[in-house]
Amino acid sequence: MSFFLIKSILALFLLATAVSAVISMFTIMGKAEKKADPKTLRKIHKISGRIFLLLLLPLIILGLRHWANVGDQASLRAVFHAVLALGLIVIFLLKVSIVKFYKQFLRFAPVLGMLVFSFAFVVFSISAGYYAVRTLSASPPQPEERQMDSPEIVGNADQGASFYNTNCLSCHHADSEEKKLGPGLKGLFKNEKLPHTGRPATVENVKQQLIRPALVMPSFTKLTEQEIADLIAYLKIL
Ligand code: HEC
Repeated sequence: MSFFLIKSILALFLLATAVSAVISMFTIMGKAEKKADPKTLRKIHKISGRIFLLLLLPLIILGLRHWANVGDQASLRAVFHAVLALGLIVIFLLKVSIVKFYKQFLRFAPVLGMLVFSFAFVVFSISAGYYAVRTLSASPPQPEERQMDSPEIVGNADQGASFYNTNCLSCHHADSEEKKLGPGLKGLFKNEKLPHTGRPATVENVKQQLIRPALVMPSFTKLTEQEIADLIAYLKIL
């Protein structure tokens, strides 16, 4: 099972516990006539909170591991995810500490609880939601339009190597096919198929991956024709 799928499943359960916590608390505090027993609801709320924390911990660890691997090359989406997730953790801790130790502030607890839910929902949507949408809508590669009149650009593998080392190496080994964050790219063009999508290992398909990545790889849309040619020249000698 892929790393991202595990994260998504954990996150889905996390969101489910947040929903259960919110619904139980809303029913206790917001409904005029109470059909369910407030004691049971309180219990449901507490248990949901505990499971939420239990699920949050592995997600934090997976998130930190990803961050350590990717560093400053994180995509904009990943940055939003990290910032919102940090916000969620701080608000969650505040809320729990008010409920446990600082009861004078108890009137803030419901608002903080709603914020935790909202943050959880947003973080989930921009990550697992994105993953699901990308997986479901994965379209077959579109053939690139050929620009017949553009002069042939000759790539320089040395330039490509230095570009690779700063932009790709953090996720792709150059000297093995072993997986790092993405598949190892040794022998990329010597193999018949690309390692992740299984598309034919052609220059067009690698360009396509750079501009419109299959799944979670950040896209490299601002590359010049020369930079792409250099990079391809380097990838060809791996
Ligand atoms: C943040 C990590 C990350 C960075 C940086 C990154 N990649 Fe990737 N790459 C991935 C992941 C993950 C995959 C698996 C497919 C996906 O998520 O799009 C992948 C897949 C690929 C594939 C296989 C595509 C296929 O069709 O099978 C190629 C080729 C590739 N990357 C090239 C590059 C090049 C070249 C660079 C540098 C310009 C680069 N990647 C930068 C994570 C990264």
